[in-house]
Amino acid sequence: MLMANQFLDAVAARRTCYDLDGDIPIPEAHIEQMIDRLLLTVPSAFNGQSTRIMLLLGAHHNALWKIVKETLRPLLDADQFLKSERKIDISFAAGYGTVLFFEDWQVVEQQKARFPLYADRMEEYTLQTSAMHQFALWTALADEGIGASLQHYNPLIDSAVHRRWAISPSWRLMAQMPFGIPLSTPDEKVQHTPLAARRIYFKE
Ligand SMILES: Cc1cc2nc3c(=O)[nH]c(=O)nc-3n(C[C@H](O)[C@H](O)[C@H](O)COP(=O)(O)O)c2cc1C
Repeated sequence: MLMANQFLDAVAARRTCYDLDGDIPIPEAHIEQMIDRLLLTVPSAFNGQSTRIMLLLGAHHNALWKIVKETLRPLLDADQFLKSERKIDISFAAGYGTVLFFEDWQVVEQQKARFPLYADRMEEYTLQTSAMHQFALWTALADEGIGASLQHYNPLIDSAVHRRWAISPSWRLMAQMPFGIPLSTPDEKVQHTPLAARRIYFKE
């Protein structure tokens, strides 16, 4: 029971953290072990193990956020771009690193062929598989005192990311998770939908 409460406490402690600092107190190896452990244990649809994770630290982390800025620059007007650039600098690039979540579409296609009855839902399942990995890592990082947020510059940055890190064309980018030391405490979460409207319990 105690363990269950600890888990729920960790879930509650995970928040979106935008003000980040790059100085984290835990070694790189610890983050790598965390990612390895999650990849081995988080569930995937039909145990397809379709999730791929890329950890970007140091110059690689900076290169990603440079790619995002250079991708956005021609798409936004000057004012909008300045705002976005500031947000990227303070909230994402200022962190310690970024985790990129991919799903391997080769696996998705194999799973469609293997389980024809579910073929039309396999892409939906792979999104759910990715989300489970994202949530698990986000929560595990928060449990170590590391703040993170979830970003979606895909698909805008996909081709630049594939070129820069020469990853398999079958890896589809799902989300980016910049992380670091949180510099501020998030406001209390607004519960705009009453709990009673979000669940039904049937009991005897
Ligand atoms: C599926 C999903 C997609 C999200 N996409 C983004 C995003 O692209 N950019 C962003 O800043 N936050 C994103 N978020 C974060 C949500 O805005 C945030 O989780 C929500 O406002 C609740 O706040 P909390 O994370 O502090 O609990 C996403 C969250 C989820 C679950």
